[in-house]
Amino acid sequence: MKGLFYGLRGKEISLILIVLTCTTILIWAWDRTPLLATFLPPKNRLLQLPQDILSGGPPTRSTPIDSEIHVNKEIATFPENETVYHQEGRPFNIAAPTDPESVPAPAQKKEIPPGVADKEAKQEQTFEAEKSSTAENPTILTESEGYNNLTSGKKKLEQERSAGIVSPADFANISSSARGKACNYAKGKWVVEDSRPWYSGSTCKQWLSSMWACQLMQRKDFAYEKLRWQPKDCELEEFEAAKFFRRMQDKTLAFVGDSLGRQQFQSLMCMVTGGEERPDVIDVGKEFGLVKPRGAIRPNGWAYRFPSTNTTILYYWSACLCDLEPLDITNRATEYAMHLDRPPAFLRQYLHKIDVLVLNTGHHWNRGKLNANRWVMHVGGVPNKNRKIAEIGGAKNFTIHSIVSWVNSQLLSHPQLRAFYRSISPRHFVNGDWNTGGSCDNTTPMSIGKEVLQDESSDYSAGSAVKGTGVKLLDITSLSQVRDEGHISRYSITASRGVQDCLHWCLPGVPDTWNEILFAQI
Ligand SMILES: *[C@@H]1O[C@H](CO)[C@@H](O)[C@H](O)[C@H]1NC(C)=O
Ligand SMILES: *[C@@H]1O[C@H](CO)[C@@H](O)[C@H](O)[C@H]1NC(C)=O
Ligand SMILES: *[C@@H]1O[C@H](CO)[C@@H](O)[C@H](O)[C@H]1NC(C)=O
Ligand SMILES: *[C@@H]1O[C@H](CO)[C@@H](O)[C@H](O)[C@H]1NC(C)=O
Ligand SMILES: *[C@@H]1O[C@H](CO)[C@@H](O)[C@H](O)[C@H]1NC(C)=O
Repeated sequence: MKGLFYGLRGKEISLILIVLTCTTILIWAWDRTPLLATFLPPKNRLLQLPQDILSGGPPTRSTPIDSEIHVNKEIATFPENETVYHQEGRPFNIAAPTDPESVPAPAQKKEIPPGVADKEAKQEQTFEAEKSSTAENPTILTESEGYNNLTSGKKKLEQERSAGIVSPADFANISSSARGKACNYAKGKWVVEDSRPWYSGSTCKQWLSSMWACQLMQRKDFAYEKLRWQPKDCELEEFEAAKFFRRMQDKTLAFVGDSLGRQQFQSLMCMVTGGEERPDVIDVGKEFGLVKPRGAIRPNGWAYRFPSTNTTILYYWSACLCDLEPLDITNRATEYAMHLDRPPAFLRQYLHKIDVLVLNTGHHWNRGKLNANRWVMHVGGVPNKNRKIAEIGGAKNFTIHSIVSWVNSQLLSHPQLRAFYRSISPRHFVNGDWNTGGSCDNTTPMSIGKEVLQDESSDYSAGSAVKGTGVKLLDITSLSQVRDEGHISRYSITASRGVQDCLHWCLPGVPDTWNEILFAQI
């Protein structure tokens, strides 16, 4: 037997066979015993992919949609990215958490070329806009459903915006349509509505200046209080104080502008309180530097907080929406540099605390007021030399464009901010101006018209300034233009005999509608 099997003997061969058999049995057992399996190295990640992807069969998830199928192709290569992608890419109405606040912020941006990201974001936006325009029908959805779904949709857009996926301009477009509001509120008609007004002009004394409360004057016709604005192509969401506070929980709404802005502020204060006395409301003016300067008649603004929802509503007086700087601080009669291309210092200082901003300007842009205030136009830090801007109309247009473009430039660094520019409120002096016997004596609502059908705003400057920006136009010009009977007229308490106020509005009145339109978009 010498030489057989390279010199191994029979005994040795059987030993080797026994060892081989044992090893085979051991390996077989290893693979089936959980205890032993824990000593194995982790399996390849690909093996953990959902069964439907591996098999190529129909997805087993309950709500398959196109974008998920697209997503699956990606996660087949990078399964570890799945979680991130789904948080970001999930349409808000599918398996969205009921609490919009609990939507986790995306941990990181998708690592795909910007062009692709833009395109995808756009597709998602379209999808969401479509979804929500069918979903946001108040007669079908209960408030809480609609609110949650749409809020989480908006939330997602906010996240995308802060991640730089959606441009601010797109954001403005979508966030309005996310509430089913791809609608031009400026187009529509006035209709008589018995449930108006939202508050009584004789009881809202805590917020409403008596100089604007026509119920407290000799005026006896109040038909102008009973009108509702009906947009042509959509329903205007019915204002509800409770809804307002829910949306504005822990938030601040700021009106910044001239006295017409102050009217809108007082109107909103009365609307959200129903004109009732509210001893719980806190004056937080100090937090925004709104204190009465020594010797002044009033502070530059007011800020009030509703403690139950931590909601703050404020008004800051900035008639020109520009920066005013005394040229000689030691001189009480100093001239002021009116920096047309600089935002008011207040906005630079407090923008980070504002969630909803409503800007307006307009009625201080005349020579008389500029001279009386000793305001000297400056551009680029020096007295203006540009002849086009030197004209009042040119200066106003230039300033509106400047402030809107500045706010727009702040949107990315202030992701909480929603900004509106309110178009000009029309005056109705006839047969003269405010100081030359002009009047507005009509008391019959809708006698000069009740419908607005044009698409573009009548406030050309405002319309062109917001174009292509993330600042939204609160276009109230034309709808207010047909409301000549709504002014304070000859009843103003403060006006001297014979002088009429055809600029400010009786409250309750037309500015309430501006706030309804604002409410529908926040
Ligand atoms: C809104 O969300 C609720 C759950 O929060 C869901 O039941 C409902 O189907 C959603 N509606 C729409 C239109 O997505
Ligand atoms: C997934 O993550 C890997 C590394 O963790 C990364 O290289 C890859 O770019 C990511 N893919 C996507 C689509 O985010
Ligand atoms: C916003 O939408 C309008 C109409 O849908 C469109 O004309 C406009 O270009 C959009 N703006 C931006 C910045 O996308
Ligand atoms: C109120 O809201 C602000 C944000 O606007 C927040 O910083 C503050 O902590 C809130 N206060 C309370 C008591 O929740
Ligand atoms: C308004 O100002 C903008 C920006 O300065 C300018 O482009 C536009 O031509 C001006 N419009 C008018 C009517 O002056």
